[in-house]
Amino acid sequence: MPLYSRLPMKALACIAFAVSSGAHADTNADIETGRALFMQKGCYECHGVLGQGSASTGPALAPHPVPLSAMQAYVHDPKGEMPVYSKRILSDDEIARIHAYLASLPPNPPAESLALLNDGAAPTAQASAPPGHGSSIYAANCAACHGASGEGGVGPALRGIASRYGTSDIEGRIREPSGIMPRLYPHVLNDEEVRDVARYVAQLR
Ligand code: HEC
Ligand code: HEC
Repeated sequence: MPLYSRLPMKALACIAFAVSSGAHADTNADIETGRALFMQKGCYECHGVLGQGSASTGPALAPHPVPLSAMQAYVHDPKGEMPVYSKRILSDDEIARIHAYLASLPPNPPAESLALLNDGAAPTAQASAPPGHGSSIYAANCAACHGASGEGGVGPALRGIASRYGTSDIEGRIREPSGIMPRLYPHVLNDEEVRDVARYVAQLR
């Protein structure tokens, strides 16, 4: 199975995450850091961006993750197909952040609940999305890699992308991602959500 070779080794090597040690409660900052680590360390490749799992690559880890101590033990010493993450690659503290992120996820993925908010409007009405719909999709699914306001991070900056791509090209990049960008369509984002988030990205300045 070529999954291992798809792990973002470049990202692993380049990104030194400054994580302070010590006891702490699950703050929003922990959850945000955990989400970023879950993406950067490649967990999402097998367990899904929202920890939803996939029959062919890895079990669901959210919304009710195994206890933290069990997760730390497993990740450092997995039993089956899962690659080993040594303590040097992923510390217990970082796993605690990932655990906080997974534990914070609602039983229904945010993308689905956002779609439900739109149910009152006719699904075919192009202008039905409330303002901010694209921006919430962006915050939940893209910001971890492309930056909160498109300034870039693990992924390239998206500000000013409209000078190079039309909205339909941006939709294309979301539907058929390259590199380590995860494939969010159609499992996490539906057609309408891809369109809304592409429109949002197109106006980033
Ligand atoms: C290459 C695919 C792959 C990657 C990458 C991966 N996992 Fe897994 N993981 C699996 C598979 C498959 C299993 C099921 C048991 C097995 O075969 O090891 C699993 C099992 C687990 C379990 C045990 C779940 C349970 O219900 O007992 C945890 C916890 C876990 N993974 C966390 C993580 C975390 C955290 C990361 C990122 C640091 C990660 N995994 C990265 C494939 C992967
Ligand atoms: C795990 C990190 C990650 C996530 C999450 C992610 N991307 Fe990306 N994205 C990347 C990387 C890395 C690239 C560069 C791809 C390459 O090198 O081939 C990229 C490329 C792109 C591009 C093309 C940029 C260009 O200049 O060619 C667009 C547009 C884009 N992403 C939009 C999005 C949107 C919208 C979302 C959320 C729906 C998203 N991405 C989620 C990592 C990510």
